[in-house]
Amino acid sequence: MNPSETARSLFSGIAASYDTPAQLFSFFQYRRWHRFLLQRLPTARPEPVEGRAHAYRVLDMATGTGAVALRLAGRPGVSVVAADVTRPMLAQARLGASRNGKYPTDFVECTAEAVPFPDASFDAVVFTYLLRYVSDVPAILRELARVLRPGGTMASLDFAVPRGPAYPLWRLHTDVVLPLGGALLSPAWGRVGGFLGPSIRHFYRRWPEDRLLELWHETGFPDVEAKRLSLGGALVMWARKSP
Ligand SMILES: C[S@@+](CC[C@H](N)C(=O)[O-])C[C@H]1O[C@@H](n2cnc3c(N)ncnc32)[C@H](O)[C@@H]1O
Repeated sequence: MNPSETARSLFSGIAASYDTPAQLFSFFQYRRWHRFLLQRLPTARPEPVEGRAHAYRVLDMATGTGAVALRLAGRPGVSVVAADVTRPMLAQARLGASRNGKYPTDFVECTAEAVPFPDASFDAVVFTYLLRYVSDVPAILRELARVLRPGGTMASLDFAVPRGPAYPLWRLHTDVVLPLGGALLSPAWGRVGGFLGPSIRHFYRRWPEDRLLELWHETGFPDVEAKRLSLGGALVMWARKSP
C-alpha cells in the first residue's frame, strides 16, 4: 500500500465521526492547536495587485473534515482551497461548510504530491498532520512551497514526542489509552488508535525537529520558527517564503 492509500484507508472509516474523538483523545487541545497555528498567519489582506484588492488566498492541504479551512473561511477577505486525498473526509468538510454557511472557495480531491495549481497561486499554505503520511517529505515541502507566492506564509502542525518527564505519560497515552479507547469506539478508530503512537515516533526518528527546521530552510524559508505546545505533544512551524 502506498502512503496515500494508507491515509485513505485509515481516514475513510472514521471521517463521519472524526471531530469529537480528535478533541477527546487530545484532552481538548486539538482546536487550541489549530487556533495557535492560525494566529501565525497574517490577518491583513495583501497589497493590491495591479491596483486592485484581491482576496487573501489560502491552501489548506490535508484539510480532513475542514476544521482549519472553515475557521479561515470565516475571516473577511479570505478565500480558501480545502484539499485532501480522502474523499469521505472532504465530504465531511463540505457538510461542515454548508452547515455553518462559511464556504471555502473550493474543495479539491488531490494528493499533496501533485497540487493541481500553478506556481505562486496562494498567499498562505497550511497543512496539519500531513507529513507522517507521505513517503518523500522534502518533495512535499517543495511542492507546497511551489504554489506559495514569494513572501507568503507557510504554517504546519503535527503531533510531537514530548521530552523529559512528560514522555512516560505520553507513552502511556499512545501505547495504551489511544488503542484501547479507539477500539471501544469502533474497529476503524481502533486501527487509528494503534497506528498513531508508532507513526509519530517513527516520523521524528527520521525527521527530528532540528532536521525539519533545516529542511524548511533549504526549501526557501530562511527564518523558520517553531513552537511546541501542550508539554511538547504538538509542534507548530511557520515561516515566510523568501521574496
Ligand atoms: C489526521 S487528519 C487531519 C485533518 C485536518 N488537517 C485536521 O487538522 O483536523 C490527516 C488528513 O491528511 C490527509 N492526507 C494524508 N496524506 C495525504 C496526502 N498525501 N495528500 C493529501 N492529503 C493527505 C488524510 O486524508 C486526512 O484527511
